[in-house]
Order: sequence, then C-alpha cells, then structure tokens
Amino acid sequence: MSGPLAGPRTGGVLDADPDLAPDAPLEVVLHRVLLRTCRELRARTALLVLPDEHAPGDARVVAHGLDDAARDALVPDAATRLALLAGDAGLGPDCLALPVHVGGVPYGRLHVCDKQGPDAAGFDAHDRQLAAVFAAVLGPTIEHVRLHERARRQRAWAEAAADIGAVLVGPVSQGSALQLVADRALAAVDADFVAVLLPRDDTSLAVEVVAGRDVPPALVGELTRPDGLPAEVVRTGAGLVVPDTDLEPLYLPGEEERWPELRSVILLPLPGDEHVGVLALGWRERLAPGSWQLDPTLPQRFCDQAGLVVQVARARADRDRLAVLEDRDRIGRDLHDFVIQRLYGTALGLEVLGRTLEPGPVADQVSQAVDQLDATIQDVRRTIFELSTAEDEGVRTELLRLSDVVARSVGFRPRLVVDGPVDTLVVGPLRHQVLGVLGEAVSNAVRHAQASSIDVEVRASVAEGVLVRVTDDGQGLRGRTPRGGLLNMTHRAEGLGGSCAVRDRPDGGVEVLWQVPGEAVR
Ligand SMILES: Nc1ncnc2c1ncn2[C@@H]1O[C@H](COP(=O)(O)OP(=O)(O)OP(=O)(O)O)[C@@H](O)[C@H]1O
Ligand SMILES: [Mg+2]
Repeated sequence: MSGPLAGPRTGGVLDADPDLAPDAPLEVVLHRVLLRTCRELRARTALLVLPDEHAPGDARVVAHGLDDAARDALVPDAATRLALLAGDAGLGPDCLALPVHVGGVPYGRLHVCDKQGPDAAGFDAHDRQLAAVFAAVLGPTIEHVRLHERARRQRAWAEAAADIGAVLVGPVSQGSALQLVADRALAAVDADFVAVLLPRDDTSLAVEVVAGRDVPPALVGELTRPDGLPAEVVRTGAGLVVPDTDLEPLYLPGEEERWPELRSVILLPLPGDEHVGVLALGWRERLAPGSWQLDPTLPQRFCDQAGLVVQVARARADRDRLAVLEDRDRIGRDLHDFVIQRLYGTALGLEVLGRTLEPGPVADQVSQAVDQLDATIQDVRRTIFELSTAEDEGVRTELLRLSDVVARSVGFRPRLVVDGPVDTLVVGPLRHQVLGVLGEAVSNAVRHAQASSIDVEVRASVAEGVLVRVTDDGQGLRGRTPRGGLLNMTHRAEGLGGSCAVRDRPDGGVEVLWQVPGEAVR
C-alpha cells in the first residue's frame, strides 16, 4: 500500500485499512483515524480541532467517543474551540494535545482523553509516542483526501470541457452550443443555476442561455446593469466569487426579482481575443467561502474552451448569415438580368405580333398575354426589392435595437422581459405587427410620458398567442384620446382577432396591453 496512511511514519498502525481509502469523504476518513487512535491508545475520546472553512475565524471539532450533546458541552463556544485549536487550552491535565501539520504548516490539533482499562492512571510515554504518530498521519491524510477530491472535480470539469469542445467540429447553431456550455457547467459543479452572458454593447451583457431547476425563462434576453458584477468581470477579465450575495451590495441591485434567488455565486470570464462573455454559476444555499465549487481555478480550462466555442459559434452564425445575404443578392441579380429581360423580350415580341393582327378575339388574347407579362415583370421586380431588404432578425434582436434607441434618446434602457419562443412564433406578418406595436408604444412612452422607467414585456406561446405590455411611470394620459398611433395598435390587434387596451396605471404612468390569440401564431 502506498500513500500517507502507510509506511514507517505510522509504524504500521494504519496499514491496509480499507476504510481509510482516500476517495472516501474527509469526515469519514477523519472519524476512522480518531477511532483507531482511541483503540490503540485505549482512550475513550479523541477530538480533532480544525479551522472552520464554513465560518472563517472559527474552528470545528471532529469527535470520537462523544455524542453531539457531550461534545457541545465540552467545547461550548468559538472561544473554546479557537483556544483548543491554538493549543492555548487543553481538555484537562490527563489529556494529550498534539499539533497537526498540513503541508508542513501548523493546521489543527489532536486531543486524546480518558485513558481506559486497569492501568487507567494516565497516558504513558508509549501512548504519547503513538499519539504523535496519529497526529503526524492526520496532516497528510487531510491533504491527500483533499487532493483526491480536487482531482475528481478537475476531472469533471475536464470532461465537460471535452464535451463542449466536440461542438467545434460539428455543425451546431450558436444557441445550442451555448446551451450545451450551460448544461455541462451545471452538471460539472452541482450548481442550481447557470447562465451564459454575452456583451450586447460596450457596457452591458445579455443573458443568452440559462440552465438549472426552476429558472425563470424570461431571464433570457435580459440585460445586466453596466455597473453590475458581470460587466466588472468583462472589464477586468478576472473571475468574481460571491460566497454570500446578501453581503455584496453590487449583486443585482434593483434586478433581483428577475433572477432566481441565489446565495452563492461565481462569475467567470469566457476569454477570447477580447473577453467575450461571462459564465455565471449560482447556488440557492450559501456555500462555504473555501468550498471547491467557489474555486475559480478549477473551471479555468472549461472557460477557455467555452470562450472558443462562443467565438466559433458566432463566426459560423455570421458566415451563415452572410451566405444567405449573398445568395439573395445573386438570386436578385439573376432575376433582374435574365428572367426580367426574357419576359420583357417575350412581351415585346407579342406586342409587335399583336399590332400585325386584325382586331378580334386572337388580337385580344395576345394583348391580355402582354398585360399579364407586364404584371409578372412588376411582381418579379417587387420580389427583387423584397429580397434585398428582407430582414431576418428576430423580435428579440429588434427589441434590443429598440432599447438602444430609447437609451440614446432618454438616457435609460427599458427593462425587457421576453418569454417563450418569441423568435420562432412571432415571424412573418405577425412579426411586422408586433414590431409596429412595440415601436409605437415605446415611442409614445419616450415622447409623451416624461417617464423615468419603461418596462417592455413580450410573451408568446402557441396556446396563449402573443402578449405585448409596455408600461411607463410617467405622467399618464391626462384624458388625451387615442389618435393615429394608438388607433393603429388597436387595428393591428383586431385584424388578428385580438385586443388592445391603453390605460392609466393606478400609481401613475400608462399601460399598453396588446394581445392576440393562439390562432394568430399558428
Ligand atoms: N405613454 C404615454 N404617456 C403619456 N401620454 C401618452 C402616452 N401615450 C399616449 N399619450 C397621449 O395620448 C395621445 C395620443 O397618442 P397617439 O399615439 O394616438 O398619438 P401621438 O403619439 O400623439 O401621434 P402619433 O402616434 O400619430 O405619432 C398623445 O398625443 C399623448 O398626449
Ligand atoms: Mg403615438
């Protein structure tokens, strides 16, 4: 057997104990060592006092031979624990106290008490020697179990990195590549929540994908504050660890209600040529500051790989988009240069032919054919125009663009909530209507409301249809009646079997609620 539990330092006392396998949890291994200590020394109790990683400035006690109540009575408070750790106090004149070193530096203290048996007069020199052996073995044991644990975690991250690396060689959309990054990170670190954020502009990031249990889907598309923590990670390029979000004033001020409730969070940069994004990992329970989940060095390789995935996926999306645009251009040119010219030539030939004919049914038919060809030429011209101006951005992207426009004109961004498969359901003519409504409602809020905040909500589902709600906290309608813009919104809704209501809100400002039913998206 090799490892810290064997060899001459233990004098053989711990040799070949299967219960001391280093892949067992640390607590189990420590209890086993204390049990062996008591057995070998014929002592009733052994206590190991260690720094408490969950509570900096305190110590924790691992005890053998005492139940929890007896342990708490013996070591009632932090002051006692710290004194026992430092060796400033002992548990009695008949107890042994020995320092435990980890990595060559003093770390904890082993206390052994209550010598049992007929010679219970106290511990003798041999006992002292044995106790020293156990104390000497505890340090490397702790270190070894920890290294083992760390290696296991590193392996989990490395496997996750390999998984996401696989998408670099296959054809995968940006959305699913990012989702894979989030899903694998969630599993690798046992997190409750993961988000991948990418920069939208110089100051804010948008939530691109989320993973986890009970995660509000509306979070996707949310922008973070320019002075928030994710933006700081992008600015500095360094990860941020927040063991307790309650103690971090910059953690989501004013935005909490949209995010899941998280107590511990770690934000890591996804590096690229420049910093391309942020990976956010969160837990609902508060984690110990020193816990492995909050170690920003473990996922380093994963983040490097994820940064690469983001860049490649983006480049691919750009390339695909460019290819579509180039294709459209080519089709437009071909339609113009070949199809129209041929139609035009045929129409001209028919027209000349028609002039040579006597008036009558044949001449009329030729003339009708010429008219139809003219109409077809007009159709093709319109198609060419539509091809060159066709916009294939989703509603989400258009919303972010609208948010930029608002920020430029009033100095703040509207809060955006996008829920459901908006980009897949709100397309074609419906997309046109929805964008028209959003543009009008937001521009009214900007122009007439004198608001200090604007909220925009777009929800879409096959069952419920589409809902657009735009609210502001401005001066309200003050009795003004709908004219062009507001009436248009109503027409747009009614044309799709829906409705539009514009009203003053009870605590000031205006609410526009525009809805169309499920039939409109099917
Ligand atoms: N969010 C709002 N806050 C305060 N007043 C509003 C708001 N939206 C509309 N109004 C009032 O209602 C009136 C009618 O709005 P409507 O959108 O129909 O017309 P408009 O914005 O004045 O013109 P148009 O939309 O044709 O450019 C506005 O002139 C304005 O006085
Ligand atoms: Mg208007």
